[in-house]
Amino acid sequence: MCRLGASTRAFDPKAYLGYFKFGEDTLGVEYLNFSLKHYCKTFTSGVVKGDTLIDIGSGPTIHQFLSACESFKEIIASDYTYRNHQELEKWLKNEPGAFDWTPVVKYVCELEGNRQRGKEAEKVAKLRKTIKQVLKCDVHQSNPMEPIVLPPADCLVSSLCLESACKVLTTYCIALKNISSLLKPGGRLVLSGVLGCNFYMVGPKRFSCLVLGEEFLREALSDTGFIIQEFEVLVRDDNIDDSSDFSEKFFILARKEEAI
Ligand SMILES: C[S@@+](CC[C@H](N)C(=O)[O-])C[C@H]1O[C@@H](n2cnc3c(N)ncnc32)[C@H](O)[C@@H]1O
Repeated sequence: MCRLGASTRAFDPKAYLGYFKFGEDTLGVEYLNFSLKHYCKTFTSGVVKGDTLIDIGSGPTIHQFLSACESFKEIIASDYTYRNHQELEKWLKNEPGAFDWTPVVKYVCELEGNRQRGKEAEKVAKLRKTIKQVLKCDVHQSNPMEPIVLPPADCLVSSLCLESACKVLTTYCIALKNISSLLKPGGRLVLSGVLGCNFYMVGPKRFSCLVLGEEFLREALSDTGFIIQEFEVLVRDDNIDDSSDFSEKFFILARKEEAI
């Protein structure tokens, strides 16, 4: 196995989506279960809502929007690589070969207490209508959406992106500041990912990951002007999946301080 991390451009969306096949006992499904429950709780609470939500580093996935689309009028997805944009667009346009999210949509409808027939199709239609744009994004730019200037959003979501994009903790803090510039004062950041992770596999390729710890994240968020409202950490399940070496999953809800 190659010990060096593959470059972001080598990220194969189809291989990554293999992590999202419900019913399989994989690390991806473990992370998915954890994050879907938190997204459901966060976005159905009635507290985290508004006009616009921006997702940073969406990859080829849409699970992060399934509950959020009930609370926001407009969702903007983004990623660094064009191949991920293409994969997302394929699902948005319901084109042949698009990933089948049906089991995940069904699970989210159940989490939200909607077991009636037709609810899944309704949610898919709503989500496809709510995602208005898929943009190029680079968290290392002071305006990550450069050259586009977006009006500040009510909510920022990011999952597993900053630890993939950053090699050292100081760069992570700068990237956090960069993405925070896209959020209104008083807006919410929904940040999730993994702790203690050195690498993850996407197909045969090994991607390096920045090792994060809870204390570092608390300090980085506070230094960037966030007030942490929820910080959930859950130890990895006891399984032998070696596609990644993370020790815990985390989910954070934070509020950007009002401008003084
Ligand atoms: C592990 S995937 C996470 C995808 C999705 N958010 C999820 O939770 O499954 C990491 C994503 O970060 C993106 N990424 C890497 N470097 C980036 C950068 N500099 N700016 C924005 N996104 C980046 C990759 O293209 C990839 O889609």
